[in-house]
Amino acid sequence: QTIYLADYTPPAFLVGPVTLTFRLDPEKTRVISKIEFRPNPASQSDTFFLHGENLTLIRAAIDGQEVTPELSAQGLTCAVPDRPFTWEAEVEIAPAANTALEGLYMSNGMYCTQCEAEGFRKITYYPDRPDVMAPFTVRIEGREKIMLSNGNPAGRGDGWAEWHDPWPKPAYLFALVAGDLVNHPDRFTTKSGREVELNIWVRPGDEDKCAFGMEALKKSMTWDEETYGREYDLDVFNIVAVDDFNMGAMENKGLNIFNSSCVLASPETSTDANFERIEAIIAHEYFHNWTGNRITCRDWFQLCLKEGLTVFRDAQFTADMRSAPVKRIEDAIMLRGRQFREDNGPLAHPVRPDSFVEINNFYTATVYEKGAELIGMLKTLFGHDEYYKALDLYFQRHDGDAATIEDWLKVFEDATGRDLTQFKRWYEQAGTPRLSISDDFSNGTYTLTFKQETPPTPGQPQKDPRVIPIAVGLLNPNGDEVVPTTVLEMTQAEQSFAFDGLASRPTPSILRDFSAPVILEHKTDNATRAFLLANDTDPFNRWQAGRDLVLDTLLRMIRQGDAPDSAYLDALHRLIRDDTQDPAFRALALGLPPQDELAQLIHDAGAVPDPQAIWEATETLKQARAEAFQDTATRLYAQYQVTDPYRPSAEQAAARRLANAALGIINRLDGGALAQRQFDGADNMTQQLAALSALISAGKGDAAVARFYDQWKHDRLVIDKWFAIQIQNAAPQDAAPRTKDLTQHPDFTIRNPNRFRSVLGALAGNSAGFHHASGAGYALLADQLVALDPVNPQTTARMCTAFETWARYDATRQAHARAALERILATPDLSRDTTEMVTRILG
Ligand code: ARG
Ligand code: ZN
Repeated sequence: QTIYLADYTPPAFLVGPVTLTFRLDPEKTRVISKIEFRPNPASQSDTFFLHGENLTLIRAAIDGQEVTPELSAQGLTCAVPDRPFTWEAEVEIAPAANTALEGLYMSNGMYCTQCEAEGFRKITYYPDRPDVMAPFTVRIEGREKIMLSNGNPAGRGDGWAEWHDPWPKPAYLFALVAGDLVNHPDRFTTKSGREVELNIWVRPGDEDKCAFGMEALKKSMTWDEETYGREYDLDVFNIVAVDDFNMGAMENKGLNIFNSSCVLASPETSTDANFERIEAIIAHEYFHNWTGNRITCRDWFQLCLKEGLTVFRDAQFTADMRSAPVKRIEDAIMLRGRQFREDNGPLAHPVRPDSFVEINNFYTATVYEKGAELIGMLKTLFGHDEYYKALDLYFQRHDGDAATIEDWLKVFEDATGRDLTQFKRWYEQAGTPRLSISDDFSNGTYTLTFKQETPPTPGQPQKDPRVIPIAVGLLNPNGDEVVPTTVLEMTQAEQSFAFDGLASRPTPSILRDFSAPVILEHKTDNATRAFLLANDTDPFNRWQAGRDLVLDTLLRMIRQGDAPDSAYLDALHRLIRDDTQDPAFRALALGLPPQDELAQLIHDAGAVPDPQAIWEATETLKQARAEAFQDTATRLYAQYQVTDPYRPSAEQAAARRLANAALGIINRLDGGALAQRQFDGADNMTQQLAALSALISAGKGDAAVARFYDQWKHDRLVIDKWFAIQIQNAAPQDAAPRTKDLTQHPDFTIRNPNRFRSVLGALAGNSAGFHHASGAGYALLADQLVALDPVNPQTTARMCTAFETWARYDATRQAHARAALERILATPDLSRDTTEMVTRILG
């Protein structure tokens, strides 16, 4: 059943205080609810409907009188008085049997919840929609040592604990945790003097992995005060780590619940990339307290209202804490790898979708990451001051509201006096705009002409031109900047912009800092790219110039069998040799484009990509780089070894990244000797894992793989890495067989989403392996998804995205992929989640 944005109606009843009592038991938890309801004057309807799924109703009463509601698989209806009344109900649920990890479930003997988007209805009968907000009082009865819920503690005794959350909230922000937990405590004093108790709660044994997350939390709290003027609003802020979790983390009011992989960190078990990600996710969930909780969403179509804005805020935070250019480049790599791929395939949907079957299928790169890009474009178009003026107005006007994208845009219109009717298309039209460029120089005037075009997407054949902020700078032939960054505001399908008073024809640097999420189709030559790589003042575009060079050489190698381009090798060599350059930037420049992205480019150009040929070209290029850069790599490796004690700082991470890129180069020539030395001597996970990866690629990994397992078999999160790295580094024909072996390993389980993803997600990420012509990759993933669906539909549906590019490939591969998808779809009792995804992917 499809739900449409256009069908929104206000709730028939509004909710006053909610009181919940939980009598915890793994098989038979009782949930007793007492809820004040009153008719909503803004609603035409008087139908009293409460959502409820997989609940056993024990009794229900209205104003103390027992009632017998009419039950369905979705909830209940009941005759109610036409005035305020008190609803009471008692239901029974079975947390231990809940493997879907939605609602109240158990993870390693600990009770926990995940309610976003629609999990609360698996806990009790309730109007489970985000525009129904209420203050909650929660009593938990059980034998667990620690029993937590939202808000402030309101009392505690033998076998019970009470919590009160004064801030009205939708049910999706409800949380409960109970278990044998230990805490890493700290405190924070807000700008206006509120004393806040902070805790990270973990299983005994994980206490030593909390310090970094706690520092990140305090930095986030300070940053949001300083940057957005937002303070925390309760006496306690609790974070809990759980091992079994479908997503990264969840912003429940005052009680954030985290996938343990997104909060636990130590130098021995976490890589530099893990540390950076953990810091960002802690910030993200904390920032939701204002963008998501204090101002929430009217309905789930507005998901990007909170997610796009919060992703944008966490990206600003990371840019401030670490390196802004590095963060921007990493985000662009991610956006192109995941969101552009989504936007250009069968799953394309607008940042604000207008219909869905299962909302959990819309927690996507488009809603999150493209949603964040739209906020960034508003900031670029209006500038720093106007942006923060609009945000102040947003918080002032909508605090306590369940808001919409219309509300959001109206705030910007009122704050800036601008009309955003056209900008709104970014929220409504799916697909990535393609921007092509031509230029002209005469009489000292340089003219840039842009053309924008967005290809059709499912259900949207026609696209209208969008507002595109194009940040441009101009360089003269000496490499000096003659026109500094200027934001051109493109609004037409085709539009020209002129720059006059120039002495000679300039070289343009276009889309600086990746100022819009578009595909730039700039037909330029490699000499110009090398010039920009050497001279551009915009770090993003310098990196982009390097990326354009490598794409050009790889595409010519794949299409024409050309040899690796020596101009590219020379330009890159010059850059990596130059010690005045940021090591992080040099490491990024050494990165190769994802093979999946090359496949997309070949497909876009009207040809059929061959994943095997793409893999071979990439290998050939790596070998050529190794031969050309050998001496430089040896020097860089030695020079960028970190001798200070490990710190997860941006500076140390940059040095390790460059040194490990050098290791990857040397590794192709020394048969794994240096990697073996690094592996043997490593005292942190970044170094150990980089060495292990190199050893596996050199075909010398067997002993190290075994030793790594022995060393880490007690640590789930490290063993996830152990599973993944063997598959990521497998040659195309070995990837599926290796994955299959690993699914037979005693530590493999489909019950834990992290483990499932570390194995099957790694297969999906090995492009030439997953898309191997044998079809073995497709068949194996289909087997696993069929097995997982009855256990955990959300994770199954999410992993189906591995198939979203299937129609790019040749007839043989397509036939294998179609057979795999049809086999999944034919599974009896397939979940709504997976059915929707496979149906859309098949098109
Ligand atoms: N709101 C969470 C976040 O962005 C994500 C939770 C999504 N959960 C889900 N089941 N779809 O941090
Ligand atoms: Zn979020």
